[in-house]
Amino acid sequence: MDLAAHSVSQVLEALDSRRALDPDVHGTSLFGLVYPTGRSDIEALIHDVYDRFLFTNSLNPLRFGELTRFEREVIFIAASLVHRTDSGKTPGAVTSGGTESILMSMLVARERARARGVERPVIVAPQSAHPAYAKAAHYFDMGYERIELDDNFRASVHSAKELINSDTAVIVANAYSYPHGAMDPVADLAELAGEAGICCHVDACIGGFILPYMEMLGRDVSPWDFRVPGVTQLSMDAHKYAYVPKGASVILYRDDDWAWLQTFFYEKWGSGLYATAAIAGARSPAAIISLWALFEYLGTSGYRDIARELLDATDRFREGVQLIDGIHIVGDPIGPLFALASDTLDLYGVGDAMEKKGWFLNRNSDPKGLHLMLSPIHARVIDQLLADLATCVKNHDAPINDEARYS
Ligand SMILES: Cc1ncc(COP(=O)(O)O)c(C=O)c1O
Repeated sequence: MDLAAHSVSQVLEALDSRRALDPDVHGTSLFGLVYPTGRSDIEALIHDVYDRFLFTNSLNPLRFGELTRFEREVIFIAASLVHRTDSGKTPGAVTSGGTESILMSMLVARERARARGVERPVIVAPQSAHPAYAKAAHYFDMGYERIELDDNFRASVHSAKELINSDTAVIVANAYSYPHGAMDPVADLAELAGEAGICCHVDACIGGFILPYMEMLGRDVSPWDFRVPGVTQLSMDAHKYAYVPKGASVILYRDDDWAWLQTFFYEKWGSGLYATAAIAGARSPAAIISLWALFEYLGTSGYRDIARELLDATDRFREGVQLIDGIHIVGDPIGPLFALASDTLDLYGVGDAMEKKGWFLNRNSDPKGLHLMLSPIHARVIDQLLADLATCVKNHDAPINDEARYS
């Protein structure tokens, strides 16, 4: 194909007009996928970081040693947030996101189980676990068993106990879950794992950068991180509630040596030793260095202040929804994430009506309903959001598209 050349302004115009077809990632219409703060100072700093690190490559720590040191510092800061005490050794790795962190953690669990002679190690995860665990089972030829949920949509300890056997490699606990915002009984599940001598992975992909600040703000958070005996590994995504662009997550291990089990070494190819700490080969450090920069800029108090405003907005939303007849909050979500259901209405129709007003709520399939994750920017629009939701609950048509969407 012979591609025609264009001027810069033509190219940018084409980009802008196509970008405008998708939702505004800086706005208030999305409730997941992106996590806007509405803070121009934060966005400006991230742009400056990207300017400086646009074309670098974290692949080779011998060539770009400083990038590796930034990553290491980020891993240590993340580890301290979740009470993984500092032993001087790097306790984990940075990855491109929650899925890669989970894949690596499941691979480590598989290697641990294989080392004790299990032929086909099994992942035991709540029914509410992210699809990344099923993906790990698929990629790494592991078995996959689903823990039933209790009435509050938390993993049932009884069901987990029934599923564990000599093939089990790892028990997964959500802190907190995507579908319902439920905090699983991490301490009980980790205890089961400890008794069985297997891994316990805490999925703090959503909660990892919000629960620590909730605790600092005096909110009631049941034990969920490395303070819980039996928790062996934990994933936390910076590109969610640490507000950096996509491509930033951290996987941490309690044991200093376990991160080596996910490290890949190879030298039989004619260009010497090749090693990577996770799946990707060449990769950009910009998202991780943005996190480093935001830690420096905001400090603990800055992140805590953002969390305070977000949680105030969360409280206002929860109280407002409780006043709307016909819908209810599913279970008892701990953070800024809500699943909404109804005993009388088809909420997909309500979701369609909300879309006409510019609010893109996500669809849940079980229970059938709507789903939203609040971001800091939503603090500005909670009243309008609630007013429109109340109107749409009263006036809506049948759903246009009767399918759940992870959107
Ligand atoms: C609980 C949980 N774990 C893992 C993931 C996967 O994260 P990512 O989309 O960054 O791969 C998500 C994403 O929403 C999640 O909510």
